[in-house]
Amino acid sequence: MKLKIGFAGNGFIAGVHQANLKRDDRVEVVSIFDTDPARGTTQDFDQMVEAVDAVYITAPNTHHSRLAAAAVKAGKHVFCEKPFATTMEDAKMLLDVAEKTDKVFQVGHNRRFANVYKRVKELTANAPAHTAHMKMNRGELLNPVWTGDESVTGGFLFETPIHFFDMMRFQFGDIGSLDARLSGPNDFSMMVEFVSGMWATFVTSADCSWYFPYERMEVFSSYSTIETLEMEEIKYCLGLGQLTQSESFYRLDMHDKWGFREEDRLFVDAVLSGGKPAVAAIDGYKSVEISCAVYESTREKKRIQL
Ligand SMILES: NC(=O)c1ccc[n+]([C@@H]2O[C@H](COP(=O)([O-])OP(=O)(O)OC[C@H]3O[C@@H](n4cnc5c(N)ncnc54)[C@H](O)[C@@H]3O)[C@@H](O)[C@H]2O)c1
Repeated sequence: MKLKIGFAGNGFIAGVHQANLKRDDRVEVVSIFDTDPARGTTQDFDQMVEAVDAVYITAPNTHHSRLAAAAVKAGKHVFCEKPFATTMEDAKMLLDVAEKTDKVFQVGHNRRFANVYKRVKELTANAPAHTAHMKMNRGELLNPVWTGDESVTGGFLFETPIHFFDMMRFQFGDIGSLDARLSGPNDFSMMVEFVSGMWATFVTSADCSWYFPYERMEVFSSYSTIETLEMEEIKYCLGLGQLTQSESFYRLDMHDKWGFREEDRLFVDAVLSGGKPAVAAIDGYKSVEISCAVYESTREKKRIQL
C-alpha cells in the first residue's frame, strides 16, 4: 500500500514537492488543504490530516508552527517547510511537540542537499575552514507581494536568510555568538563566531536587484579557497600552485540543483524505514534561534551569545 500524503498550503513550493512525489511510486498525494477554495481539495485541515499518513506544511511562514504541531499531535509524519517558526515561543512549542513524537519530523532546509553545498562539505572535510565570507541577497520584497508583509513572513530573516543560517551550521557547526548591525530596514551585516572558534562574516540585503549570484559562500582554509556561485557552480583551488577547478550544475533542473528532490526522497525513506529525518526539528529550531538573535543584536547593538 502506498504512503498517503497530504498538503497544508498549495502554492509554489507545494507544486515543487508534489512534482517530486509524483515520480516516487511509494507514495500518493491524496488530500490538499488550502484556505483558498480554488487551490485545495478541502478547506478543512482536520479532514486532510485524518485522510493521510504524512503531512507537508507548505502554507505561509507564520502558520507553520501551529499547523505542524497539530499534524504531529494527530500522529502524522510531518515535513515542515522553512521557517520552523517565526518566534522563539512558537519554536520552543513546536520543538517540544516534535521531540515527543515517534514519527518523522523533517524541516525543509533544502540547501543541505544542493550539489554546490554538498561539495563544499566534502572539500572542507580534507581542508577544514578557518574563515568564511558569505552573502545571501534578494532582489526585492515586492513580488510576490506577501514577501514584504511581515505578518505573513515573520520578517525578512525568516523568509530568505534563514536558509543561510542553517547552511552555516551545516558547514561549520553551531554558532556561539553573533554581532549584527542594520544599515537599512532589511540590510544586515554580521560577524559570526562558531563554537569551534572559527569566525565568519555574513551580509544579507533585501533590495539588491537580482544581481547574480544572489548567494555566495567563500570558504578559506590553509592555502585553499572554495567559492560557490548561487547553486549553479563551485570553484576551488586546493593548495598553493594548484589549478583552480570548477564544477557546474547549470544543466541540472531546479529540483535537483536546489536539493528539493533529494530532501523529498529522504523524507519518504525515513518514514518507510522508521529512520531519522535528514533535517531534524532541532535544526529548524536553531535556525529560528539564530534569526531571533540577529534581530536582537541589531536592536540592542551588541553581541548576542546563543
Ligand atoms: N525551501 C525553499 O526554498 C522554499 C521556497 C519557496 C517557499 N518556501 C516556503 O514555503 C511556504 C509557502 O511558500 P510559497 O512560495 O509556496 O507561497 P505561495 O503564496 O505560492 O503559496 C501559499 C499557499 O498557502 C495558502 N494558504 C495561505 N494561508 C493558509 C493557511 N492558513 N492554511 C493553508 N493554506 C494557506 C495560499 O492560499 C497559497 O495557496 C513559505 O513558508 C515559504 O517560506 C520555501
